[in-house]
Amino acid sequence: LDNGLALTPPMGWLSWVRYRCVTDCKTYPKDCISEKLYMEMADHLVSDGYRDAGYVYVNIDDCWSALERDKDGTLQADPERFPSGIKFLADYMHKRGLKLGIYGDMGTKTCGGYPGSKFFMESDAMSFAEWGVDSFKMDGCFSTATEFPISYPIMGQWLNRTGRPILYSCSWPVYMSHLHPSANYTQIAEVCNIWRNSRDIEDSWAIVQDIMSFFGKNAVNLSAIAHPGAFNDPDQIIVGNYGLSYDQERVQMAIWAILAGPLLMSNDLRNIREESRELLLNKNIIAINQDPLGIPGTQLLAGDMQVWMRPISPKGSFALAFLNFLINGGGPKQVETKLTELGLTGAGSYNITEGFTGKFIGLFKPSSTLTVRVNPSGVFLVVARPV
Ligand code: DGJ
Repeated sequence: LDNGLALTPPMGWLSWVRYRCVTDCKTYPKDCISEKLYMEMADHLVSDGYRDAGYVYVNIDDCWSALERDKDGTLQADPERFPSGIKFLADYMHKRGLKLGIYGDMGTKTCGGYPGSKFFMESDAMSFAEWGVDSFKMDGCFSTATEFPISYPIMGQWLNRTGRPILYSCSWPVYMSHLHPSANYTQIAEVCNIWRNSRDIEDSWAIVQDIMSFFGKNAVNLSAIAHPGAFNDPDQIIVGNYGLSYDQERVQMAIWAILAGPLLMSNDLRNIREESRELLLNKNIIAINQDPLGIPGTQLLAGDMQVWMRPISPKGSFALAFLNFLINGGGPKQVETKLTELGLTGAGSYNITEGFTGKFIGLFKPSSTLTVRVNPSGVFLVVARPV
């Protein structure tokens, strides 16, 4: 979507995977969907270095609103959990150099059963703009396949007409692929800044693998469709939660960087392992993710030992991820690859560095062999730049 936003994949925090639809603030005061939760996460984005690393969106997901619209049909926040209202929350973010995202649904109800935007798109777009919202994720529950290519563009137009720049996150293709053989990605990229392609992520390595395998199979087509302003969305970053080992967390960061996926963390920033925090703040990974060319990578080699590759700037450079998904492979697995096999033939030689640390590995000719050791369910990431 050519609205000047998401020129690189958006970065921030989103409540869904970790906090779901917890609305019982009496029993779970720290975890319920309430203004306090978003304010506390915002405070940590600022104090713990995330904002300065680029994580600026604080995104509300499902279950924030009252169960009914007000008497004029206007959406309203749940008065007990958001006593100060959404405008207050947007101001809170803006004062801290952050942005506020909100959530809705194109159908009659959100997936969690709260009011949907069907029949209310104009008025909801106006509410978001009046409140000072900076991003809107429109979900696709309680609607039918034929509605998607019509309703998503209509909401996009209403958002545009408010005059306020609002990043538009669509769940359109993920529902189309359930309901219909194919989504029209050319249209989606014109209408949306980011779009969810595949199933919901969960706090689980198996699901991360599932999403990677979807992108692996479809990466060539999905890569061609994305560009600055329009990115595929493999869903939230779950680093810092319960489901991934440290090596698996590195895999998620590396592959989301290769895919140019939004870095929207869903975790508890108030209580996170230091090694996970450092990974989320890793400047080299963020630089690959945010590469200004905005060309997503693809999977070169599928299977138990995978290779993924993304073109990055300066021209002719690549980020390359070697993954080890062997179940019975023992310890770290050695992989030897000729640069020509990776398609690294365009330069006389390449300067290769380790992707997470930036440490120099060596100068390689296209005919030379690169040897790496990849941990089980882990990644070895390198950056190759023409000399
Ligand atoms: C389905 C979406 O894909 C999730 O990301 C989340 O927004 C839930 N709906 C909320 O109900």
